Amino acid sequence: MCIRDRPGTGEFRPPRLVIPTPSGRPFTQADAVRYAAEPWLVFACGRYEGIDSRVAEEARTRMPVDEVSLGDFVLAGGEVAVLVMVEAIGRLLPGVLGNADSVADDSFAPGAMESLLEGPVYTKPPVWRERPVPDILLSGHHGAIARWRRDEALRRTARTRPELLARLDPGALDRHDRAVLREAGFPVDGEDMAD
Ligand SMILES: C[S@@+](CC[C@H](N)C(=O)[O-])C[C@H]1O[C@@H](n2cnc3c(N)ncnc32)[C@H](O)[C@@H]1O
Repeated sequence: MCIRDRPGTGEFRPPRLVIPTPSGRPFTQADAVRYAAEPWLVFACGRYEGIDSRVAEEARTRMPVDEVSLGDFVLAGGEVAVLVMVEAIGRLLPGVLGNADSVADDSFAPGAMESLLEGPVYTKPPVWRERPVPDILLSGHHGAIARWRRDEALRRTARTRPELLARLDPGALDRHDRAVLREAGFPVDGEDMAD
């Protein structure tokens, strides 16, 4: 592998080398955020048995190297894994999304509640095949809508990814959050901190 300086810059600032492999640490939204802030990433895709360990070992003497996994399954090659990462990273770059603020409502949005999934999503029209959007979302009451979204996010996380709840910062949970989690069968110990 030969990685040279970027044309015209004159100096060599090594990129971060990202190697997809099922034996790497899990790639998360936090990694996507971190990588989106990097000036230069290089991805190395494996096939067959994967990349000879000496490649990462040697690269580490010259640049930061991350070995990351997309999940607990084995793909035939790293290309699709890299496409997934490029998509997750690319949408965080300035100007890519029409509304940059929408990232804040996504599942795993960075911040105190980054272990939460997003609750159910509704768009337009208000009624589709006799199925209405929940009244609260049409109420115009921003505080109540935010509360409803947070409740639904907590409920969905408890239902589909309960292991994520263990990673929630108890200090970021208010009384209402705790009541929702209790009702969902996941009581949280300790005082209510963020009322
Ligand atoms: C058949 S896999 C190699 C599997 C390897 N022998 C193992 O058991 O860990 C070939 C390539 O697919 C990619 N790959 C497969 N599964 C992946 C996963 N879960 N996450 C990221 N990359 C993966 C990697 O680039 C890997 O080098």
